[in-house]
This record gives sequence, structure tokens and C-alpha cells, in this order.
Amino acid sequence: MIEHKQSGEASEELLHAHIESSSLRQHCEMVANAMEAYAISLGKSEIEIVNWWTAGLLHDLDWEKYPEEHPKKAVHEILPPLGYPAEVIAAINAHAPERTGKEPESEIERYLFACDEISGFMNAVALMRPNGFDDMKAKSVRKKLKDKRFAANVPREDIRKGADLINTELPEHITFLIEVFKKL
Ligand SMILES: [Fe+2]
Ligand SMILES: [Fe+2]
Repeated sequence: MIEHKQSGEASEELLHAHIESSSLRQHCEMVANAMEAYAISLGKSEIEIVNWWTAGLLHDLDWEKYPEEHPKKAVHEILPPLGYPAEVIAAINAHAPERTGKEPESEIERYLFACDEISGFMNAVALMRPNGFDDMKAKSVRKKLKDKRFAANVPREDIRKGADLINTELPEHITFLIEVFKKL
């Protein structure tokens, strides 16, 4: 059995070897924590919790060095020889269906898709607020979602699609994530 801390450390090292940008690293950490929290709330096993966390942490691994090939470089070349589980690699492949042609279907794939863009968007909202995530409410995030000029690069359709994929109302999804991000 893989020990959480050990495999976690190896993945953190891999992340740091491939990504220099502190904001991209932070995004990866946020998605990892979101995935871990959902895995726990869904009653997943220890191994699955690690896999969900890992998929979140490494989903943008090749973004900085190989933006054109993202996430195929990671999925086909970087991760397989390192022995990452197939479901982790599959989830990373399916987080960018417009690039890989693979829609998120399995649970880990759907949750990764659902946690990705909203995490980036919520971080942009947190940066505008004096207390960041501490007193953030789902309502203020939804208000910003309606403001097309705010974080204009974040595709709103993907945020809605993500909530649909995990059969969760968007405010509920956002509230869950505020609780996760508050603790980081
Ligand atoms: Fe990505
Ligand atoms: Fe991402």
C-alpha cells in the first residue's frame, strides 16, 4: 500500500520540478485540496483519496512547459513511466476535453472537471477581498460569475457544466469549496 505522505511528497516534488509559477502551483494545490475533500465526503478509501488529491495536484503539470500539448504531454509521456495509477492519468486527460477529445465520465474525471475552473475563479474573487475566503459567501461568487468582465478568461459554461456533472447545485458546490479553501 502506498503511504499517503510518501506518494504525496513525490508528487509535490514532481510539481515543483515542472512548474515555477507560484500562482500555478497554488492553483494546483487548491484543486488537489478540493478533490481530497470531495473524496473524503464521498466516503472513498484511503487509496482513492490519495488518487483524487494527486489528480488535482498534477492536472496542470505540463501547462507551463508545454502549453500547446497540455495535458497530453503529462498524460502520455511524463506520468505513465512514473507509475501513476490509470484513473489519475485518465482524470487528467478528461479535465480538458476540448484538447483531448475525452469527456469526463468516471467519478474522479467528473469531479476534477468540476473543481478546476471554479477554483481558479474563486481564487480571483478571494484576491479582491480583504479577508480572502474567510467571510466569502456563495452569493458573492455568483455575482462575480455574472460580471462578464471579471476574470473574463474563465469559461462560465465549464463552471456550470462542472456542477451539472457532479449533480450539485452551483451555490452548494461553491459553499463546499469555500470551506476547503478557507483552511489552506
Ligand atoms: Fe488544465
Ligand atoms: Fe487547472
